[in-house]
This record gives sequence, structure tokens and C-alpha cells, in this order.
Amino acid sequence: MNLTEASFLPNNHELPAAGEATWQSPSNIALVKYWGKHGNQLPKNPSISFTLSAATTKTRVKWAPKQSDAAKHRFFFEGEENPKFGEKSFAFFNKIADFAPWLAGLDLEIHTENTFPHSSGIASSASGMSALALCVMSMEKSLNPEMSEADFKRKASFLARIGSGSAARSLYGGLVQWGALEGTQGSDLLGTPYEFPVADVFTSYRDTILLVDKGQKQVSSTVGHGLLNGHPFGEIRFEEARKNMNAIQPILAQGDVEAFMKLVESEALMLHALMMTSDPYFILMKPNTLAILEKIWAFRAETGIPVCFTLDAGANVHVLYPEANEQSVNQFVETELIGHCQNKQYLRDQVGGGPERK
Ligand code: DP6
Repeated sequence: MNLTEASFLPNNHELPAAGEATWQSPSNIALVKYWGKHGNQLPKNPSISFTLSAATTKTRVKWAPKQSDAAKHRFFFEGEENPKFGEKSFAFFNKIADFAPWLAGLDLEIHTENTFPHSSGIASSASGMSALALCVMSMEKSLNPEMSEADFKRKASFLARIGSGSAARSLYGGLVQWGALEGTQGSDLLGTPYEFPVADVFTSYRDTILLVDKGQKQVSSTVGHGLLNGHPFGEIRFEEARKNMNAIQPILAQGDVEAFMKLVESEALMLHALMMTSDPYFILMKPNTLAILEKIWAFRAETGIPVCFTLDAGANVHVLYPEANEQSVNQFVETELIGHCQNKQYLRDQVGGGPERK
């Protein structure tokens, strides 16, 4: 794909007539992690994720040509007006102004809700920004009804990326790549559906998200990514990520669950190792995180059940396993792991089909 930023500039600068759109968009969990960015939120390395199914954001946007000089913006979170939460959405609209210039001419009312507890530490930026980007695309589609489904999704992913990098990967179901990688169609500008064969086992993978620490994020994503600039291991990391993006292809094709677990756990620990070795340094795991990892390893060694973990830039643990092992892993989670979760909170999720218009 030979796309540039200019490919996403609209050719129609009219204002959409009043309308509304509702999109439900999922979160995603990275297997090879995005950590380090440059320019206009472009990744330092390609990444790949499972799109999730249960952890979603539903966003309804109502728009109408503005009634006065200053456009009116209202934001409702879970039914209540919440201008503070709205700031992120309106900052996003400013960032994408060149690509969606009609936004400046519209009064907007945004209603949004998550299927997971707010501030639970489950990243809402991927589901939230992708849902919002899809609503913006529904405005564009009303101006340009001929736009193909593929172009609609591509630009939605492009816009979502500008909102939050990992959100670029929430626009498609299954496995999604974001970032240029030799021998693939991947682009730094947007997410693309994973283009190589995937064994059945990985099409219905399970992810039980354990909420270990719901506290305020110690390091914001943007600050965390920034710590990779000038990081002593930065360049090595970006190269390792590329290697892992290539190594995961035969693993996914052959259904090699053992090699999958090794690669995915190593990616998670490398992300945390990068944070421990940056300036300033951070330990993002909590004692309960480590206790969970040790229990997962012991359970795996004892039972031979292929259950592994991944982590994002925080203390929560994603427990990954094949659908066939669901019952035994559920029991293991209930008896051994939820004691390490804050208020015993966790969320059962699985690979999902991507966003839906509601
Ligand atoms: C650790 O997408 O939240 O979850 O682009 O600054 O919004 P921004 O960062 P964000 O970073 C997520 C990083 C990660 C790994 C991943 O999802 O690939």
C-alpha cells in the first residue's frame, strides 16, 4: 500500500447535514508491543494484537451545523454530562482537523460508555478513540456515500491512530498489525488485518483480564513512549520487535502454542524491562502481578495446560489460553488468581470480530 498522510485529506469540504451515528468498538491486546513513537504518533516498531470482544466502548455522536460562531460541544459519559472527560475527545478533533475539516463547523453531542469499569486500568484509549474515529467517518460517509467499506475502515484506523497509537489496531477483528514490516502490507499510518495464515486455535483465543491495580497510571503512555528516545536499549528493542513480528508468522500459521507463549511472555517482560531501565526508571508491576505470573508458570508446569500471560504498561495481567482449555483455566483463575486482584475484579474476554455500527 502506497499511502501517505495526504491520501487521507478529504476532497469534499462541505458541512454534513445534521445526523448521528453510534459505533461500538473493542479494545485490543498486543502480542508484539508498540512502545516508542515519533512524529505524528508513528510507531518506532510494528506491532500485532488480538482484537477483543467484551471490553468495548460504545459512542454515539450527534452532529448539526453550528448555530453560532463558536461550535457547541457537549460530552456525556455513562449518561452524565462530563466536560472533563470530553477534553480528550475535543483534543482529538483538533489533532485530526486537517483530515476532518468539517468538525470545526459542527455542534457536537457525544455520548459514550464502556463495558468495563472506568479507571479499571483496562486501556480505554484503544476502544474509545476507535469508536470516536468511526463516528467521524460516518460524518464523512454522509458527505461521500460512494466511499467503499475498505476506505472507510482504513481512514477510521488512520484517524484512531492519531488519537492513540494502539487504537489503530481496533478497527478490524482477529489479529491486526500496525506498522511497516518488510514482506507485509503493513503501514505506520494505520492498522491492517493480519495477512498471513492463522491456525484455528488462535482464532478463538481467550483473554482473562485480571485487575490487579486500578490506581492512577504511574506513567502515562505518552511519557512512557517518550522514555524510549535516547534509551540505551531503544534501538535493540525496535530490532527485537521486528524479529518477533517475523517469528510470530510461522507460530500463528502452525498453531504452535508453545512458541507463542514464549514469544508473548518475552514481549511483555521486555516492555517492563525497558521501563525499569529508562531514565527515570519505573517498576510497573505490583507484588500481586508477580505472584500471578509465578502461579501461571507453576500451573503450566504442573498441568501442561498452555496458559500464558501478557502485560501492558501497568500492573494488570492478561491471561491468554486456547478456547479448549477454558474450563480448567476458569477454575484456576477463580481458585488461585482472583485473590490477587483488586476487589477480586476480572473480565473474561476473547478474540472478537471488530467494531459494529449500532
Ligand atoms: C503498552 O496506544 O496507549 O499498550 O499512542 O500514546 O496513546 P499512545 O499510547 P498507547 O500505547 C499502548 C502501549 C501498550 C502496547 C501496545 O498496545 O502495543
